[in-house]
Amino acid sequence: MEAVVTGGAGYIGGHLVDELISRGYRTIVYDDFSSGSYVNPKALYSKVDLRNSEGLTFPKGSIVFHLAANPDVRTSMYNTKEHFERDVVVTFNVLEAARRSDAFFFLFASSSTVYGEADKLPTPEDYPKRPISFYGLFKQVGEEMVEFYSRNYGIRAVSLRFANITGGRVSHGVVVDFVRKLLRNREELEILGNGKQKKSYLYITDLIEAIFVLLEKFRGVYDAFNVGNLDWITVDEIARIVEEEMGLKPRHVYKDFGEGRGWAGDVRLMLLDINKITSLGWRPRYGSAEAVRFAVRDVLRSLNVGLPH
Ligand SMILES: NC(=O)c1ccc[n+]([C@@H]2O[C@H](COP(=O)([O-])OP(=O)(O)OC[C@H]3O[C@@H](n4cnc5c(N)ncnc54)[C@H](O)[C@@H]3O)[C@@H](O)[C@H]2O)c1
Repeated sequence: MEAVVTGGAGYIGGHLVDELISRGYRTIVYDDFSSGSYVNPKALYSKVDLRNSEGLTFPKGSIVFHLAANPDVRTSMYNTKEHFERDVVVTFNVLEAARRSDAFFFLFASSSTVYGEADKLPTPEDYPKRPISFYGLFKQVGEEMVEFYSRNYGIRAVSLRFANITGGRVSHGVVVDFVRKLLRNREELEILGNGKQKKSYLYITDLIEAIFVLLEKFRGVYDAFNVGNLDWITVDEIARIVEEEMGLKPRHVYKDFGEGRGWAGDVRLMLLDINKITSLGWRPRYGSAEAVRFAVRDVLRSLNVGLPH
């Protein structure tokens, strides 16, 4: 079976490529290497900017994992056109290529941000989508397009609304931000927001396992699934774990964007209802705090910084 991974040089895509290769899939990555740089020597790579890829085709009958995007919620609030192109235009071009190539299955990396600040927590898949960031809006538009192609061109497809994914070769997000800041200044940690934002974190290996469970067990034509953890964790707790792992006790400086948010478009509370995917037989192995702790160790290891114990 052939697998296509857009954004396969990125953080999540790279881990997915490793797993596909180890399961024997012939794997082709389409990436412009704008933010990703990971290469698995057993995969094939096509350097392509998917914003300008009219006429692109994939190997016939492939499974398409569409992950290419700009995943930064914050920059979507001021760099909106560039996000529109990387998140919406790219998704359209990839869907067109999937249609032309009679894709066997299409998996879209969506996000918990499609819900915005939901009143209902944990938030189920049928909760209204009211994003508060352009990033979330563009994921919502992406989901609509995926469903349209699925219904009208008979491509089996799923949109997966990821919670915050961390660990492994994680290159962005709060854990990386805190570790980097503390390596620069051991005395002080700047925390974006009021530290009370509370969200669900999933360890990368749990996410990759969820993707394969869906591939094997999903029997429908199109559906959306939340992929997150059973619990959540505050930003202050994340800071405490990072400090524990680094053996530091810095003072905290809060940079509140307003109403406790870290930045425009920051969803303060996020916990997904994961009953739909757990009913297919998947369960997260690690809780949010464990995922964060392991991620700190992964980041320190990748930066070659020794642990204090
Ligand atoms: N990391 C998370 O916590 C998280 C949470 C929810 C959803 N997601 C989604 O999962 C997917 C992967 O996220 P990630 O964290 O691995 O991000 P990432 O930035 O590490 O990977 C994205 C990849 O897409 C590539 N790319 C960007 N624009 C491109 C273009 N025009 N043409 C070709 N390639 C292009 C980049 O070079 C990069 O390799 C994204 O769609 C993201 O929105 C991530």
